[in-house]
Amino acid sequence: MNIKNALKVQALEWTGVSLKVLDQRALPEQIMFDEYSDVTGVAEAIVSMRVRGAPAIGIAAAYGVVLSVMRHYSNSEGNWKNKVQNDIQKLAKSRPTAVNLFWALAKMQELLDQTTNNPIPVFKQAAIQIHADDIKANQIMGELGADLLGEQQAVMTHCNAGALATGGYGTALGVIRSAYKRGLNKIYAGETRPWLQGARLTVWELAQDNIPATLIADSAAAWLMKSGQLDWIIVGADRIAANGDVANKIGTYSLAVLAKQHAIKVMVVAPVSTIDFAIESGDDIKIEQRNQNELLAACYINDGSVVSAWNPVFDVTPASLITAIVTEKGVVLQPVENGVKHLQ
Ligand code: MRU
Repeated sequence: MNIKNALKVQALEWTGVSLKVLDQRALPEQIMFDEYSDVTGVAEAIVSMRVRGAPAIGIAAAYGVVLSVMRHYSNSEGNWKNKVQNDIQKLAKSRPTAVNLFWALAKMQELLDQTTNNPIPVFKQAAIQIHADDIKANQIMGELGADLLGEQQAVMTHCNAGALATGGYGTALGVIRSAYKRGLNKIYAGETRPWLQGARLTVWELAQDNIPATLIADSAAAWLMKSGQLDWIIVGADRIAANGDVANKIGTYSLAVLAKQHAIKVMVVAPVSTIDFAIESGDDIKIEQRNQNELLAACYINDGSVVSAWNPVFDVTPASLITAIVTEKGVVLQPVENGVKHLQ
């Protein structure tokens, strides 16, 4: 898989000695890359959401571990493994909800436990493989999801589950890309308050491929559904529990509740690396709370006023509201019936 061909503008680029990260905070106004050659930088890029989206976070973390091995092993420090171990822990604290982060770090940890001599090429190869496998999984899911949609459908997506959020191609946007080639009728994107992943990233990313999308305010979703002009909601996921409950960007749960009221189907698209087989249900998923300043009007920040903001950035949609979970290992229809355990 040629990673460079998977996306015109890439979220992550491994140079062999450093990781280039497209600063998603600056999009769509500016296309700016930051280049990191140590773990502290990569962890900060995740915390600050220069890189975001569950699979992309996992891939960035894997490259972060490579940088750690390169630094500590090359310095011939006898205790290089302990230092890499500390760096893995640092990366694990960067964001709490996307399980792909912990999945990728567990893979790197396994290597750390096994590898003794000449570790740099081994770690490099592992991270490159995680990256390439993610793109491959997205392309498979794109076709499977498009099969499920059929032709002439109207879809709405939430947040950005595209090439920007993954190794390339995208999960929900991968399905939309594949379905567009087959005659998908209409694509709506919700703006995704407060960080505006939909308004800033999704419509921009689709425009890079000349795919037309119509942006709506999050608060217009119910009215769009009521109009009868929507067939499917298609979203990605940050963590899927064994019973099929799905954590994704805040607002996904409201869309799924509204979809039920209007008999609209809900598709979740995510690689198996997003499934947390260790947890039974969504009740066990830690929901990230971000700084209230992401929500507050600037005039309230640090003014000692009584105004505050509550800013959970994910929610959990119960399996009972989901029509299908699409993975690279196959499609699970009505996940509420048997969950997703069998995909392990
Ligand atoms: O806070 P973000 O922007 O990292 O949240 C991203 C999402 O919620 C995505 O929908 C999810 O990670 C899937 S990305 C393929």
